[in-house]
Amino acid sequence: MRDAFVVQGGEALKGDVQLSGAKNVALKVLIASLLFENAFTFENIPHIRDVEELVNLMSKLGVSAKFTRKDTLTVDPRGLSDHTVGFLHGCRIRTSFMLFAPLLYRFGKANLPNPGGCRLGARPIDRHIDMLKSFGVQVEYDSKSGYYRAKVKGTRISATKYRFDKPTHTGTELAIMIACLASGESVIQNAAREPEIDDLINLLNRAGAAIKKFDSEIHVKGVPKLQSIEEPYKIMYDRNEAPTYASFGLATRGDIVVRGVLQNEIKHFVDKVIEVGGGVENVDGGVRFYYKGELKCANVVTKPHPGFMTDWQGPWAVLMTQAYGESTIHETVFEQRFGYVEELKKLGAHIEFFQPNIKNGKRLYQFNVDGIDKGKLSQAIKIQGRTKLHNGVLNVSDLRAGATLLIAAAVAGGESVVNGASVIDRGYEDIDKKLRMLGAKIKRV
Ligand code: EPU
Repeated sequence: MRDAFVVQGGEALKGDVQLSGAKNVALKVLIASLLFENAFTFENIPHIRDVEELVNLMSKLGVSAKFTRKDTLTVDPRGLSDHTVGFLHGCRIRTSFMLFAPLLYRFGKANLPNPGGCRLGARPIDRHIDMLKSFGVQVEYDSKSGYYRAKVKGTRISATKYRFDKPTHTGTELAIMIACLASGESVIQNAAREPEIDDLINLLNRAGAAIKKFDSEIHVKGVPKLQSIEEPYKIMYDRNEAPTYASFGLATRGDIVVRGVLQNEIKHFVDKVIEVGGGVENVDGGVRFYYKGELKCANVVTKPHPGFMTDWQGPWAVLMTQAYGESTIHETVFEQRFGYVEELKKLGAHIEFFQPNIKNGKRLYQFNVDGIDKGKLSQAIKIQGRTKLHNGVLNVSDLRAGATLLIAAAVAGGESVVNGASVIDRGYEDIDKKLRMLGAKIKRV
């Protein structure tokens, strides 16, 4: 298997790049379509490994899901015939646990393995399980087999009023899907607010669901069934890809137009680029990011939407190695999302971990802090810039860290090897092809 990228760095990247369909929508709408009565077609579905894994997993359950054109995928849920997700398939993709919704709806029961995906800390699904219980679902975890076994009490899921202790993106989406076909009206409070959730809501409403969102409160009137619609559903572009390509442009002192995103969809990223002295301009169908002079340092705190997304902080860290002065990044969403730091240090980056003085970690941090030794928390990094990065051999720990290392390799002088191309392929469609179109010297080996 060709699982590394070789990058000859040091070129300013220039040109246009088209964003692909959003990974974090594609995975959810494919699962949601299993709630429908008949076949349904989606457009703008990215060819990424996570989608491939999900399609394989769905086919193991009897569902037919096929790409009919480059980005058009049709799912026919009528063959769904199994309520148990195979361990190996379930573990390969984190969103597999969202199959609780269609499996509980179709069979009244579901057996799902503890999910896999990028390890960004403990990443438990305790909030999801607590939410399911509130809908009257009995859930037990069998630690020997690693399976969650869930069962609907009675004949139909019953509506509920549920408040998430802390917001969760996929938890909110699962709650919405479960509530759509429950008997009665559900209210979900302290819900996550990512725009990707809105795309899922639009799809479900077009299929006959009755979902209304009022900021972080969501009202869902249960309906007896969801009907597929004739028109294909085109999902949104991947706004998390945008800061990645923008950082390729800015950090290599280049000029890149990112097509498929509006400034307000990545507002907190754009604001920071302007603060550090990068160029930003609206162009037809996208945003131009360009280097216009020395970059200044800045401090970033990641937040759930609306805020500076955790998915953007790795690319930002590379950019800050190219800015003058001391920058900080404080990660508050996941407890381990600095898997790229030791690798960047191999290229000569000056980065140190530290723990900011915070008043109420329980409130600030989105992960569960109970049980974590406070003395051991290290949720922030300091980056001293500007550093002339040199080449090296790098190892990818997770998806966004992978993209981060590619940016660093593109900035560094000389030839670098980034091991773990397949991890990057989980979420970035044709990243090497797109980068070559921007003038990067990158190949798979
Ligand atoms: N959490 C728990 N228990 C739960 C649920 C969440 O402790 O039951 C914690 C998480 O471990 C995390 C925090 O709460 O520390 C917030 O997690 P959230 O549930 O919001 O994240 P997620 O749903 O697992 C999705 C995206 C992530 C993205 C975050 C934030 C998908 C498939 N994943 O994760 O995307 O960073 O929301 O928007 O939608 C990525 O694309 O690389 C990625 C990781």
